[in-house]
Amino acid sequence: MSTKPKGDNRPDLESYWMPYTANRAFKKAPRIVDSAAGFNYKTQDGQTIIDAFSGMWTSGLGHCHPKIVKAVQEQVARLDYVAAFQIGHSRVFELANRLIDLAPEGFEHVFFTTSGSESADTSLKIALAWHRMRGEATRTKFIGREKGYHGTNFGGMSVGGIPANRRMFGHAMLPNVDHLPHTHDLEHNAFSKGQPEWGIHFADELERIVSLHHAENIAAVIVEPVAGSAGVIVPPVGYLERLREICTRHGILLIFDEVITAFYRIGTTFGCERFGVLPDIISTAKGITNGVIPMGAVLVNSDIYQSFMNGPEYAIEFFHGYTYSGHPVATAAALASLDVYAEEDIGNRVQAIEPVFETMLHALRDAPHVIDIRNFGLMGSIELEGRPGDPGARGMEAHVKCFEQGLMVRHGMDTLMFSPFFTFTPELFEQTFDIVRKVLNEID
Ligand SMILES: Cc1ncc(COP(=O)(O)O)c(C=O)c1O
Repeated sequence: MSTKPKGDNRPDLESYWMPYTANRAFKKAPRIVDSAAGFNYKTQDGQTIIDAFSGMWTSGLGHCHPKIVKAVQEQVARLDYVAAFQIGHSRVFELANRLIDLAPEGFEHVFFTTSGSESADTSLKIALAWHRMRGEATRTKFIGREKGYHGTNFGGMSVGGIPANRRMFGHAMLPNVDHLPHTHDLEHNAFSKGQPEWGIHFADELERIVSLHHAENIAAVIVEPVAGSAGVIVPPVGYLERLREICTRHGILLIFDEVITAFYRIGTTFGCERFGVLPDIISTAKGITNGVIPMGAVLVNSDIYQSFMNGPEYAIEFFHGYTYSGHPVATAAALASLDVYAEEDIGNRVQAIEPVFETMLHALRDAPHVIDIRNFGLMGSIELEGRPGDPGARGMEAHVKCFEQGLMVRHGMDTLMFSPFFTFTPELFEQTFDIVRKVLNEID
């Protein structure tokens, strides 16, 4: 029942249980956006907010890009929906082909989902089923990584390694999971620009885990090439290469969760290309549609796909999928986004602006509370010292104060995260970091 006073036309906030939100604090002092265009949001009260997080790592091309808006409008009027199972629509095949043309060599097939969480779970299920089909049914263990984030479904939660995401759910995790150590190390790597030089040895922990559980029991290792949600943790030089070597040596599939790093966030179509390390499965979402309509995609090599193509031809080969896999409207948004990425030369532009972002971000090194700054591509973070006994409070206050002063930045605990638009200008970076500095000066 509405608790609003009579005559108050603003929406009642109580009914909506907001995700990953401090609901009570929010509802006392809401931050409500009504529209967006380009680099900005407009709030309910008419304030303009620079979005320095481009949605939630999603919308690198800017909000309400006219070409994507038009494609969605046309598609929803032509074919709004068609069943996803045992029937198709032409544009989803076109999209799969386009993605494969853009993907690194060897990736030849795409499975569509509707979110990053679904892509993570889909990639884990593909890995399990693939081993089973090849007669290696004992390979059921997954190796994730501390501080990893692979969404909120049971598979992704279990291989994920952010403690708060797991604590509430106790022993309901998948049982057959172990974790690599994370690579975050302030003592050796604080204020590294790009990839830290120190820390390749963290990858060798995989050898220890393999010898503990035996390779014949392990299906896959899943990592984000750059850990995003934990606060932009950049892999040390040589680390991803070493993981690749160890996985190959032991017949373990390597899954890169590229929900953030795919689609130019780090300057290449897929993040693995920037690192020159090829996984066996690439899991994506977010930027595939510029965040406009939910969609995810899991890319696999031909060997994996072909292993499923046996049995009678009338039979379903993979008992998995979603009502909205390859949704026509999401497909149209994705095709339009791919067009814009190419037409606006986004890969080169991201690489060109990256040094400006790096320089301006690291210039905050002397601001109050700052204990580390990290960056790679157009992913960046400023780690603040937590208040004793109050972890996350300072980060939350900084986020709220930035918003009040016209800037959207995300925070995870006491780390502020930046995911600027691909076409941000030096002036916009300056405006962004001026607000951040002002806020850091203001808060305790
Ligand atoms: C690496 C990674 N994987 C999975 C997810 C989950 O995506 P979604 O929220 O679309 O389910 C995210 C979301 O931020 C992510 O960053």
